[in-house]
Amino acid sequence: MNAVAAGSVGEALGAATDALAAAGVETPRLDAELLLAEAAGLERARLTADPSAGVDAAAAREFGVMVRRRVRREPVAYILGRKGFRQLELAVDPRVLIPRPETELLVEVALDLRPRRVLDVGTGSGAIALAVADELAAAEVVATDTSLDALAVAQANRARLGLESRVRLAHGTVPADERFDLVLANLPYVSEAELAALEPEITRHEPYAALSSGPTGLEAIEQLLGELAVAGALPGAIALEVGEGQAATVGELVRRAGFERVETRRDLAAIERVVIGRL
Ligand SMILES: C[S@@+](CC[C@H](N)C(=O)[O-])C[C@H]1O[C@@H](n2cnc3c(N)ncnc32)[C@H](O)[C@@H]1O
Repeated sequence: MNAVAAGSVGEALGAATDALAAAGVETPRLDAELLLAEAAGLERARLTADPSAGVDAAAAREFGVMVRRRVRREPVAYILGRKGFRQLELAVDPRVLIPRPETELLVEVALDLRPRRVLDVGTGSGAIALAVADELAAAEVVATDTSLDALAVAQANRARLGLESRVRLAHGTVPADERFDLVLANLPYVSEAELAALEPEITRHEPYAALSSGPTGLEAIEQLLGELAVAGALPGAIALEVGEGQAATVGELVRRAGFERVETRRDLAAIERVVIGRL
């Protein structure tokens, strides 16, 4: 990699993998490779193809800092400052939840229903709203969040992706006096009891307000359905991401809110992950 070498790629990866494994990291080798590739400014495949190559001093120093952060169980996405979602690369930091692969299902619902006006409630990094705008050229998208910190991250992502004219950001839950064809929401749904059992990557580093909204975990979803019903502004359809085992309860809440046709979609792990209601 460079003339001023501070050990080889193989040595650096071996030491980091041992440290990460000792700290309880689930995928120590993969994470070590991702971090060293970032520190060295190389593709991961190029890095691992030549374990005897030298690591230069600057890259070794940066790698050391990254590995220490990962040992404290900070998620790789926060250390790298980015996460892929659908076809986009989003900037992420501890102000927002790291977008999860299963949330891409909500974007697929939008692609199936092809709505004109879409509301993404609890937008976080902007993942759902920006992906819908990116993939549905005719959609007009509004995205809300009760966290001003999250809205700042979504705004920066929107600007970097050149989607300012397609996605409007607003503080709160449901914007007053507006109608939508489809409401999408990945709101916090972890109950307080379940929260304690999650990995330190989540409980120590992701924002509490993005994970749980109260004892049952369904408080934010109930608030959203309540706001839509009170405003007399039920959208043509709603799609809500839910936790494992919550689909039946949330399906009932959706039905009671006034949506007549209710169905669920499963994620790749066969968990009922999205509840869809239609008028
Ligand atoms: C689970 S995160 C989802 C972020 C993003 N949509 C994603 O899927 O990656 C939930 C987000 O909802 C926001 N939030 C929590 N309660 C809310 C509410 N009642 N109304 C609007 N946003 C809320 C949180 O601040 C957080 O950014």
